[in-house]
Amino acid sequence: MPQCRICGSDIEAFMSFGQMPIANGFLTPDQFADEYFFELAPAICGNCSMVQIIDQPDPSKMFHENYAFFSGTSKYMQVHFAAFAAAVQERHLSGSDDPFVVELGSNDGIMLRNFASQNIRHLGIEPSKNVGDAARESGVNTICEFFGEDVAGQIVGEYGQADALLAANVMCHIPDLTGVAKGAHALLKPDGVLVFEDPYLGDVVEKTSYDQIYDEHVFVFCALSVANAFGRHGFELIDVEPQITHGGSMRYTLAKKGARQASEAVTVLIAKETALGLDRPETFDKFRQNCEASRDQLMAVLNDLREKGVRVLGYGATSKSTTVMNYCGITPAHIAFISDTTPTKQGKCTPGAHVPVKPYEDFVADYPAYTVLFAWNHSREIMEKEQAYKAAGGKWINFVPKVAIQE
Ligand code: TYD
Repeated sequence: MPQCRICGSDIEAFMSFGQMPIANGFLTPDQFADEYFFELAPAICGNCSMVQIIDQPDPSKMFHENYAFFSGTSKYMQVHFAAFAAAVQERHLSGSDDPFVVELGSNDGIMLRNFASQNIRHLGIEPSKNVGDAARESGVNTICEFFGEDVAGQIVGEYGQADALLAANVMCHIPDLTGVAKGAHALLKPDGVLVFEDPYLGDVVEKTSYDQIYDEHVFVFCALSVANAFGRHGFELIDVEPQITHGGSMRYTLAKKGARQASEAVTVLIAKETALGLDRPETFDKFRQNCEASRDQLMAVLNDLREKGVRVLGYGATSKSTTVMNYCGITPAHIAFISDTTPTKQGKCTPGAHVPVKPYEDFVADYPAYTVLFAWNHSREIMEKEQAYKAAGGKWINFVPKVAIQE
């Protein structure tokens, strides 16, 4: 029987999304035959409430020199990370003479560049070489490593302890959360803080946004599970702040036990999560039923359009859409191609479903009648940008929180 990555209790999947490829594994037709698949099956631990996927591909299959994800591509995300950095600076660095900030999974430096530009001591830890190189080129101090106790020890030896350890959309990627928690404890000063944000389980359940579940997201956190997981390693959850990014995220601030006062927001959120049933298996049985209904409704729309010979495209070749496309059974017969602004994805096909990815210019050159909004988490930015598409009569197909055609 599989075991919880946090507390070692036996766990059982509450559903299976079936065989899945690597979510960011964009590929060319000559690579189709060797494509790697694994079963994507989430579970909730009955003991510590951690929602996690049972099998996860080897990290080297997901994060490598050709990792296709560059954080800096969205202008709203740049604004978001500037605000994140400013909040950390104001609340947690102002008391320090020569502050030192470390970020896990610093990607192309989208957050740390805000510290670098002010000559604040900083260090990014990024396992994917290509994005780490991009960060270094832009003046963000970065090392290519997976974080754990050993790396924490090396950093302390070289730079001293840190005031803040940050992570955005990274903590939920790390199966050895215990190693990270121990490393964080060693890395941080006695009054240092660990601040991280990730897609929030409460939003996933409420919006049936099952596409947040994919290979890289080994965990889907909520305050209850974060408090339990880090509480085992000397940390206390002292603040929680909801974020609109990634379709609904939560920012967690943790401090060493007894070092800081916890805010009222923590008690309020934990009570809300208990009322929502985020620690109960029945909640996830209902979630499974909602996923199945969403899948059936989306395919009814796409099959109908295919039968009528209507041209449908996709918008945003997100990692999330790998779960949607493969779970629902979307093929190039449903969606001719997906428009995406990321150069490294263009000219390739999506993992598993093998829908071609083309540059944004191809979308604009010949508007389709319908477009599936795979990058629904950027809906506000995209709707602002795509008014001409709408004016030309183009329709959006949404699937979060409900399958619906937006006229
Ligand atoms: P992202 O939001 O990072 O989601 P995930 O974590 O699931 O990959 O991905 C957004 C994708 O959408 C990225 O490949 C860039 C693309 N995109 C566009 O093509 N146009 C846009 O206007 C925006 C905002 C994103």
